[in-house]
Amino acid sequence: MHFYFVHPQIKLTSIVKAKLSLFGRPNRAKITEKLSVYMPNKQFVFTDMGRSAFKLVIEKKGLQNSEMLIPAYICDIFQPILTHYKIKPIFLDIDLKTFHIKTEDIQNKITPNTKSILVCHTYGLLFDIEALRKQLRGLNHRLIIIEDCAHAFFAKKNGVFAGNLGDVSFFSLYKQFPALRGGMAVCPSDWQVNLPATKFNFRDFISFLNYFAPLSFLFKKFGSDIAPKILRKEKLDEIGGINNASLNLFANFFEDAEKSLENRRKLALILQAELKALGFGVQEGEGNVFCYLSVLAPKEMTQKRDEIVKRLRKYGVFCTRIWHTPIALNQEDLPNTFEAAKRIINIPLQNHYSEKDAKRIINAVKKAITIL
Ligand SMILES: Cc1ncc(COP(=O)(O)O)c(C=O)c1O
Repeated sequence: MHFYFVHPQIKLTSIVKAKLSLFGRPNRAKITEKLSVYMPNKQFVFTDMGRSAFKLVIEKKGLQNSEMLIPAYICDIFQPILTHYKIKPIFLDIDLKTFHIKTEDIQNKITPNTKSILVCHTYGLLFDIEALRKQLRGLNHRLIIIEDCAHAFFAKKNGVFAGNLGDVSFFSLYKQFPALRGGMAVCPSDWQVNLPATKFNFRDFISFLNYFAPLSFLFKKFGSDIAPKILRKEKLDEIGGINNASLNLFANFFEDAEKSLENRRKLALILQAELKALGFGVQEGEGNVFCYLSVLAPKEMTQKRDEIVKRLRKYGVFCTRIWHTPIALNQEDLPNTFEAAKRIINIPLQNHYSEKDAKRIINAVKKAITIL
């Protein structure tokens, strides 16, 4: 049995629902109604990718030519966007227990041109935006809080879900739902937005096949050839709307994803406990939806992280290393970011895995780290 770090898979029993989702017009009013339970009084703008929703936020908030506080440990898709809009990033280091930004330095780092702060519920753990707001109130400097919920659908605190906490927020749908692609900006209802539709394409078809476990090996085999070509094509400056198939898939698998969240959390906590006992660093578990189950290789094995990942493949566990290249180039002031980049390992976790699967993964890890 092989375990792949891939985005959510679809059980073969749901193949008909999945296939039907590829056709037909989504019922946007119904989807909005469903989402309003989680994020009341908001407008949901569906984009082709999460990054497009971020671009929309920049344009609507007029953040071009300003400075933005941003986690140094985050996805590298942000760099070209910031360059495009002439936004100067001010990087903030992270805490190694949460992977969230440390906010103590904000006061020393901002200038009169700092207009916004990007916060991220990294890997699915809710960042405390309320505490940040309190801190900012004391600063006498207005900052727009942009909430990156790419990993955090269903994450909540005191009954308030991710997406409600920032001044504006955005999601990446395909990370937690088998939606192929798609992003969502959550914004005030008075924003006037009209995006050009995008089409279901060859890349979407390959991703669709990848949703069925027996075929995921195809992606591992050919993905590295296909992905760079696709990425080049996707460097469109235009902000595209979501395609119908992705929106249907998101809507049709929404309840399944929510229902299986408990199993996902249970397994993640089991895996975390076992990995911690083996010397790995684990993220705080409380309230975590574990979009990515991410651990730090034992400190003394930092130099061997890639060797561990390679060996795990031999034992059928295909991990990844998100984010092994920080977008901040200069290590100065950012020690934890660069340490996380060297030690991070993301372990495969699917909502339908069982405790037996978790045991198999742990056994593979045990084998991979012996005699290292
Ligand atoms: C934290 C975070 N934010 C935003 C994005 C962008 O999302 P998308 O790939 O849908 O553009 C990603 C992943 O790519 C991410 O990991």
